[in-house]
Amino acid sequence: MIENRKVRTGYCEEVGTKTIGESVTVAGWVHRRRDHGGVIFVDLRDTSGLLQLVFNPEDKELFQQAEKIRNEFVISVSGLVRDRPEGTINSEMPTGAIEILVNDMSVLNASLTPPFHHDENANEDTRLKYRYLDLRRSEMADKLKIRHNIVRSLRNFLDQKKFIEIETPILTKATPEGARDYLVPSRTHKGEFFALPQSPQLFKQLIMMSGFDKYYQVARCFRDEDLRADRQPEFTQLDIEMSFVNQEEVREIMEAMVKNLFEEVLDHQFDHDFEKISYQDAMHRYGSDRPHMGIDLELQDVSDLMKSVEFKVFSGPANESNSRVACLKLESATGITRKQIDGYTAFVGEFGAKGLAYIKVQNISQGLEGLQSPILKFLDESTINALLQRLNPQDGDIIFFGADKSNIVNASLGALRVKLAEDFNLIKEGWFPVWVVDFPMFHWDSRDKRWMSEHHPFTSPINSSHDALIENPGDALSRGYDLVLNGSEIGGGSIRIHSQAMQQAVFKVLGIDPEEANEKFGFFLEALKYGCPPHGGIAFGVDRIVMLMTGSTSIREVIAFPKTQTASCLLTDAPSQAGKGQLKELGISIKAIK
Ligand code: AMO
Ligand code: AMP
Repeated sequence: MIENRKVRTGYCEEVGTKTIGESVTVAGWVHRRRDHGGVIFVDLRDTSGLLQLVFNPEDKELFQQAEKIRNEFVISVSGLVRDRPEGTINSEMPTGAIEILVNDMSVLNASLTPPFHHDENANEDTRLKYRYLDLRRSEMADKLKIRHNIVRSLRNFLDQKKFIEIETPILTKATPEGARDYLVPSRTHKGEFFALPQSPQLFKQLIMMSGFDKYYQVARCFRDEDLRADRQPEFTQLDIEMSFVNQEEVREIMEAMVKNLFEEVLDHQFDHDFEKISYQDAMHRYGSDRPHMGIDLELQDVSDLMKSVEFKVFSGPANESNSRVACLKLESATGITRKQIDGYTAFVGEFGAKGLAYIKVQNISQGLEGLQSPILKFLDESTINALLQRLNPQDGDIIFFGADKSNIVNASLGALRVKLAEDFNLIKEGWFPVWVVDFPMFHWDSRDKRWMSEHHPFTSPINSSHDALIENPGDALSRGYDLVLNGSEIGGGSIRIHSQAMQQAVFKVLGIDPEEANEKFGFFLEALKYGCPPHGGIAFGVDRIVMLMTGSTSIREVIAFPKTQTASCLLTDAPSQAGKGQLKELGISIKAIK
């Protein structure tokens, strides 16, 4: 049978365009089989979609064969295209008006009963273990197809702008992006290790020093860090670098690329330039350096009003440096319950807040009488009046307060802002991109008691001399920029340091002594001595972009074979133990460390 004919003459959905009575051969998976009083219907599925097959009992042999097929069997059938009878047309299906009356079938492969059916919402572990079955679901396949369209659009844009794609090594030396490295033991240099790249950062800078003017790479990056819904240990960056450019030029071309992407893939037009906000402003107004700009709630600072109040919880931070008293006014929250407020208090607690004071405005025309709050007794009338004047609340509004070190207030109220917006349906529909600029060069790590780079150590400071940088690291701003979309950091980059002296000054601030700098980055410092052009670039998180553009809630939904939250692969069972022989060759013996 199959030997004498083609396995298929076209895809299922193409059959929808054929003329009635035409003979076709299609192949795919049995999506669903239904017995209907002597007639067997099969929905056949291939990469294009579904097509209904009909087996009539007249052809006994064929019918018996059809009785035996089950879900996920792989079959090839030939038959005639015909109209579906009146009343059985399925307008939801592109091929819903027609069906194939089968006259020949080959079972190309049987299937065990799948552990979950494609329509069901199976638990994620099962889906990851049988990922090839999960990817048969159109929802998953569609996401990977959109991912392909996204990467193709980005590549085409960059190609037109004369960027060239250059691959950089996977077996390499540690790259400092702030996470732990994945290490690979060397057999030929026993006791030594390659590190997998956390990003191609140093190589792309070397590519600029090599004279290439515009580089890009769809690059795999590896970071051993705590995973979240938008993080994977192995992820894909669109990595970009350019020579002889300033910050505005980088942002401009990247903005054009992102606009083009949304137009090509989602048919969405941005009719304005992306917003731009300084890091300081973002923290002050949104409590976050990746603010969701589709939420109208803003933090309002009231430190100045609280300096001399009796309530120490407020007057303390109001008078200290690096501290603040700020509030969030949630409008029309009449129905908010005590239990909800307790829930929000516990929520901000996760970010270090010691409490969540609030004022509920029940009837503003009654003055103080019309307010309900656990802190009114601690505040004098004139302070309350000044507060009401500034915030101008209406009946039904509730004002939440945070008072502490600025980083705690920002983190807790910043997160509460998003949580309230989710709970009270305040997130606007649409796309809200924003560039965040003027980041500090360094932040103080109070646990390790040292300065850390806000971006990475190759980021150039704004107008800072070596000496000023070393003297006051906390004051220096960087030429770094992030692109944030709907509250998610989708890209980050900077203008780089291109002088060896400045690079050494940054290492000094970071507490990397010359010997260590030489050992880790000697090759790079050496390269800076041979005529390095000024350069800058950016890297976008491709998985995150796909996640946002497909409306997915987890990064795992847009990666064909992702890792779990605990960085393992349920499909292949990786990581796994190495064989004794392999370890011996590598000169490694395993000893548990307590
Ligand atoms: P950065 O570390 O900001 O910059 O990374 C760039 C972008 O990559 C994405 N990203 C991730 N996506 C998924 N899982 C992860 N674990 C993960 N970590 C980062 C984010 C982020 O914005 N070399 C610099 C870029 C440069 O300076 O040009 C870098 O890697 O979307
Ligand atoms: P207390 O006097 O500790 O019971 O606090 C009175 C109110 O202030 C309660 O509603 C607390 O949740 C709130 N509160 C306490 N500490 C803080 C803080 N650091 N920031 C904001 N509110 C706080």
